[in-house]
Amino acid sequence: MRIIKKVSQMQNLAKVLHGKGKSMGFVPTMGALHEGHLSLMRRARKENDVVIVSIFVNPTQFGPAEDCRRYPRNLKKDAELCNKIGVGYIFAPSVNEMYPDGYSTYINIEGNFTEVLEGKSRPGHFRGVATVVAKLFNIIQPDRAYFGQKDYQQLLLVKKMVEDLNIPLKIISCPTIRESDGLAMSSRNVYLGAEERKSALILNQVLESTRKSLKYRIADARRMEDRIIKIIKKEPKVKIDYVEIRDWKDLRPVKIARKGCVILVAVWIGKTRLIDNVII
Ligand code: PAJ
Repeated sequence: MRIIKKVSQMQNLAKVLHGKGKSMGFVPTMGALHEGHLSLMRRARKENDVVIVSIFVNPTQFGPAEDCRRYPRNLKKDAELCNKIGVGYIFAPSVNEMYPDGYSTYINIEGNFTEVLEGKSRPGHFRGVATVVAKLFNIIQPDRAYFGQKDYQQLLLVKKMVEDLNIPLKIISCPTIRESDGLAMSSRNVYLGAEERKSALILNQVLESTRKSLKYRIADARRMEDRIIKIIKKEPKVKIDYVEIRDWKDLRPVKIARKGCVILVAVWIGKTRLIDNVII
């Protein structure tokens, strides 16, 4: 496995691999790798000749008050994990390599995908995500790119961008990987204290029980959201950002909660922001 830090080197390598007729699977990450990331890499390994993982804490997707500097970084440990899975190359550029002085092009995806939920709570976040993902796609030119359902809005947004901009690759969506007690794996879980971590379990519990209850019946979406909010509020450490039931294809608001909906939740636990979702 090789670690590549320069855009030009990565581009040359992509050319060589394409020339040899190798299929390329790409997994973009911000590092601090856990089983969620690794599941994407294993899938990519199965479906492609070569797997490329990017590790880049992208400053343009963090708001001014967010945790970009504090975000956990450990390239050595990440590289060991990637190596074990059979990743061929890690692309780990510096900030200056991706955004040199005078950098000025950004991608905005308009409408439902960016202006609601995460987009509303984190203005500018998806502009940064779309920009860096488009840059990485251009640099690496993979055949397939793997994204987790854990970041559901991000997944839909990237699919939309690829479709709208005619980017010639396939987006593969992968299920959310959870700890044995149900907590969705996230690089940010390391910030949680023991008590905070315990209260975070309410997210998966309430989403799972709601999913089960909606399997064979329908319900008024607003009333269902209120019910979820009430249950989460019983955990004093958890502050709700949003609880919303939306259409799973395009995140349109829905009146009725039923099969084909997605329930998306964002909360604060102390200084840590967590998101989770479940598709009905
Ligand atoms: P990051 O949070 O590191 O996540 C990288 C990829 O791993 C994303 O596709 C995310 O959905 C997936 N992932 C994270 N936790 C997961 C889990 N528990 N189960 C399954 N998949 C999981 O998302 C980003 O980085 C960035 O926004 C990025 C796309 C790299 C652009 O900077």
